[in-house]
Amino acid sequence: MKHFTSIKQLGDLKDALAAAAAVKANRFADQELGKNKTALLVFFNNSLRTRLSTQKAAQNLGMNVIVLDVNQGAWKLETGHGVVMDGDKSEHLLEAIPVMGCYCDVIGIRSFARFESRDDDYNEVILNQFIQYSGRPVFSMEAATRHPLQTFADIITIEEHKTKARPKVVMTWAPHPKALPQAVPNSFAEGMSMTDYEFVIANPEGYDLAPEFVGNAKVTHNQDEALAGADFVYAKNWAPYQADIYGKVVNYDMGWTVTKEKMALTNDAFFMHCLPVRRNMIVTDEVIESPRSLVIPEAANREISAQTVLKMLLQSL
Ligand code: CP
Repeated sequence: MKHFTSIKQLGDLKDALAAAAAVKANRFADQELGKNKTALLVFFNNSLRTRLSTQKAAQNLGMNVIVLDVNQGAWKLETGHGVVMDGDKSEHLLEAIPVMGCYCDVIGIRSFARFESRDDDYNEVILNQFIQYSGRPVFSMEAATRHPLQTFADIITIEEHKTKARPKVVMTWAPHPKALPQAVPNSFAEGMSMTDYEFVIANPEGYDLAPEFVGNAKVTHNQDEALAGADFVYAKNWAPYQADIYGKVVNYDMGWTVTKEKMALTNDAFFMHCLPVRRNMIVTDEVIESPRSLVIPEAANREISAQTVLKMLLQSL
């Protein structure tokens, strides 16, 4: 694997899950692999889980880790081409990227959708510039359109908790006060297309995801109908993909919050969310605190997904 920007780059999912299980069984088995290798983790946006789990994963592999918060302590970076740099940005990304590449062996990038241009977001302009100009293997720590380390951790978690070969997994939109990117739901849908689970997406009208990510999934605008018989409920907010309302909050319907009453429609489903989560917007306290909530095991598996991917990248150096 040269770069990791999509869950599909894992190749055969069963093999990837077996590799993840081996990592989980012995996290320190590959310390020699990362010896004298450096992972640079570049954050354009905030993070708790990705920052900690990816550092831990790299350290488990014997790697050195450098973390750069672009907006705290580094020069402000210009990203537009042809811009006359007479403002507050002191350095251009096109010099900064190859410089960063000089100091590391692999680079992780977190760069969210900016909601300024749907084309720029969906062309992954920042992530692709790192791939083009860093000279290093690049892995996504959540980019504009995908969050594959999260999705891999989510699938590991479902595999660890499913009690039937083909569980029903429902990804439901839920309300949030701010416009959030589509990266997590896009990526989760992409990951579900690699499984043989029954997968249903429930969202209000105007909130359908990009067709390339929906694929063959069933989409409904009726949340109750979707939740009936679900084994796993994956809640997430996302802003509209639809061109005329792209990245705007046009629905604040608290009727989509995942409540105890909503969960009663399911097959005693597990509740999942990638975190951070807005309690009593996305999900009520009693659901997220219930014994069926998997939010902490999901987060714990971020270390495993990151370590499995880093191991694959190191093996390809
Ligand atoms: N789920 C996730 O990526 O969390 P952070 O934004 O805290 O990294």
